Amino acid sequence: MARDFILNQPWDDAQIDWTDSTRRRISDVVFKAEKDGTNWIIERLPPHAFSVEADGDALPYRAFSPVRRCTADHEMMANIIRKNCYLFEARCPNVKSLRVVVVVLKSLVSSQGGTSTALQVHRDGAHQICVTMLKRENIIGGTMHIYDHDTPQGGRPNAHANPIVSHTLRNTYESVVFDDRQFMHSVALVHRQNDLKYSSFRSVMLTGVMFPEEFDKNFFPLQSLDPNLVTHTWYPNFMADIEMASKSEKEDKIGIFSMY
Ligand SMILES: [Fe+2]
Repeated sequence: MARDFILNQPWDDAQIDWTDSTRRRISDVVFKAEKDGTNWIIERLPPHAFSVEADGDALPYRAFSPVRRCTADHEMMANIIRKNCYLFEARCPNVKSLRVVVVVLKSLVSSQGGTSTALQVHRDGAHQICVTMLKRENIIGGTMHIYDHDTPQGGRPNAHANPIVSHTLRNTYESVVFDDRQFMHSVALVHRQNDLKYSSFRSVMLTGVMFPEEFDKNFFPLQSLDPNLVTHTWYPNFMADIEMASKSEKEDKIGIFSMY
């Protein structure tokens, strides 16, 4: 069944992300989406690196392993991109052109301690973010917390920050969508549930949607970059001046739904 194609990808051929001390695999693919009548036409773009910053200093670029072409070009991927574009249209009507960044994170959970893709409070660096559960196998935890925009980056839940919404994605294609400019988020530790079982992992798909000018400011075709300037770090340098909604308006703006 086409719906299962994305779910059943092993995602194991992606590089290990060295920013995580545990075994996290990470891959991405970027798309152009153009509105044609009521439909969104999706086209895959060549691999890109994005600009990053740490402690106020601009670092060169970060690049992930590309999602395999047969997966990136699959009709199911286009379907997911289109759904994200329609979600974006709901918050920004009349939009005609978008860029979509899909990142797949697979965390392989060892028996020692827990792992998290993003334990500390942060933004991903898009306009709209949709986090979609692909698979959870033999794990517990991984609750996602969403905070108000002025929550300090790098803080930890309860110690430094109180979430507006906390939700654990449990089922395949279950998703959380929100405006990444208006909220911060974090993901709690994921632990191995049963040590007697060999396999223990969590794979999620992050879909970031933004305007072309937002994309062009921060994403650069990998081929055009000096490879010595491509590095690994975490926070994209995206956050310009953003008009903020009031807190009460915000709680309605975090959507939890099933993609399929
Ligand atoms: Fe994140």
